[in-house]
Amino acid sequence: MDNRDPLRIGIAGLGVVGGAVVRMIQGNEALISQRAGRAIRLAAVCARDRNRDRGFSTETVTWFDDPVTMVRSGEIDVFVELIGGEGGIALESSQAALSCGHHVVTANKAMLAGHGAALAELAEASGVALNFEAAVAGGIPIVKALRESLAGNAISRVYGILNGTCNYILSQMESEGSTFADCLKSAQELGYAEADPTFDVEGIDTAHKLVILTCLAFGTQIAKDEIFIEGISSIEPEDIAAAEQLGYRIRLLGVAQMTDTGIEQRVHPTMVPKDSQIARISGVTNAVAVDGDFVGSIVLSGPGAGGEATASAVVGDLVDIGRGATGFPLGRPAASLVPYQRARMRAHQGGYYLRLHVPDRPGGFATIATYMADAGISLESIVQREGRSRLAGDQAETSFRTVTIITHDTTELAVRDALERIVNEGVVAGRPQMIRIERH
Ligand code: HSE
Repeated sequence: MDNRDPLRIGIAGLGVVGGAVVRMIQGNEALISQRAGRAIRLAAVCARDRNRDRGFSTETVTWFDDPVTMVRSGEIDVFVELIGGEGGIALESSQAALSCGHHVVTANKAMLAGHGAALAELAEASGVALNFEAAVAGGIPIVKALRESLAGNAISRVYGILNGTCNYILSQMESEGSTFADCLKSAQELGYAEADPTFDVEGIDTAHKLVILTCLAFGTQIAKDEIFIEGISSIEPEDIAAAEQLGYRIRLLGVAQMTDTGIEQRVHPTMVPKDSQIARISGVTNAVAVDGDFVGSIVLSGPGAGGEATASAVVGDLVDIGRGATGFPLGRPAASLVPYQRARMRAHQGGYYLRLHVPDRPGGFATIATYMADAGISLESIVQREGRSRLAGDQAETSFRTVTIITHDTTELAVRDALERIVNEGVVAGRPQMIRIERH
C-alpha cells in the first residue's frame, strides 16, 4: 500500500457510535484527509440490518453481513471494531484483521481488558496499529496522553470518573434528591447506560477502563481480575445529603495508585472534597487525573459517552494511522510489560465515611466511639442526626438514630475490624454504610 493511496476504512457495527463515525468521516472528509496527508475513505460497513434508516448514505460503500468476511475482502486497510463484547465475533474479527496486516481501531474496553496484551502482540508482530482512544472515557484523549505526551513521567496515580451513567445518577441524586432507582431509569431513557446497566452501576465498565489505564500508566500486564470493585447501587439519598453537609460529594472513581506494597486498583463510590476538580464534574461528563513526577497533577475532562464524542476519538485514531503512526499499542512492547503486583485492599490507607443505624437508647453512641478507639481509629467527626429512622421491615417499630462518622486516615483493615465488632455485638441495626474518602 502506497502511503498516498486512500486509506480504506471498514466499520463493523453501526449503532450509536458507528453511525456517528460514518457521519464524521463523510462530513469532515476533506479536513480529515488534509490532516492525515492522504485521503481517508469509508470503503465498507458491516451491520445486521441493511434496510434500517440510519440517517446517512452508505450507497457508495460495500456492505458485508459478516465482519470476518469484510476483513478478508481485500477492500479495507483499517478495521474499525464497534461491535462490543469481550469475546465472540468482535475478538475473532479483530484478531483476523491484525493477523492479515490490517490496522485496528476499537472502542471495545471489555475486549481490551480481557485480551489487550495478546492483541497488542499481534499488532506488533504484523507491524500495524491497534488504537483504542475511544475505549476509555469517550472523547477525552487520555490514552494518547498517557502513551505519548506523558511518556517521560514516572506516574504515581491515575484516577477518575470513567462512567458517565454513574456520574449522571449520582449528580441527579444530588440535585433532585431522588433515589438511585429513579435516576437509573432516567439514565437508561437518555441512552447513557450499557445494554446491561449492571455493567455501569456495579462498576464493571469503570473497571474495564481502569485496567487499561493501569497498564498504560505503570507498564504492567493487564490484570482485570485483580481489581477491587464496589458499585453505586447501595448509595442512599441520606448518604448524598450527609456528604453535602460534611463538605464532600460522592463520585464513582476508578483509582490505580502506586503504594509501597504494589499497585492498588480499585473502583468504588468515593467522597471527594466539594471544592476539588473531580467533585465539580457532574452529569454524564468524565474526568481523568494523572499524577506524574515532572508534570505534577493534571486533570482532563469531557464527554465520556455518547456517539459523537466517542466518534471523535475513533476518527482521531484513524487520522493517526493515515499519518503512518504504528507505535506500541500499550505504550511499550507488549512483551516488556511487567507482572502486576497487587496491593492488598485491607492495607489501603485513607479516610472513611460510616453511617450506622443505632437503636435509640442510652450508650449506643458512646459504644460505637469506644470500638473505633479500640481499633486505633481517630475520628474527625461523629454526628448523631436529629430525627428517627425506622428500618424497612422493622415490625417492632423500634426507632433508630442515624450516626455518621468521618475518620482521619486509617487502614481498611482497622475500619472493617471495628465494624465487624460493632455489628457482632448488636450495637447497630442493619448493614453499616462505608464510603472511602479521597482527600487529595
Ligand atoms: N455506559 C458507558 C458510560 C458508556 O456510561 O460511561 C461509555 O463507555
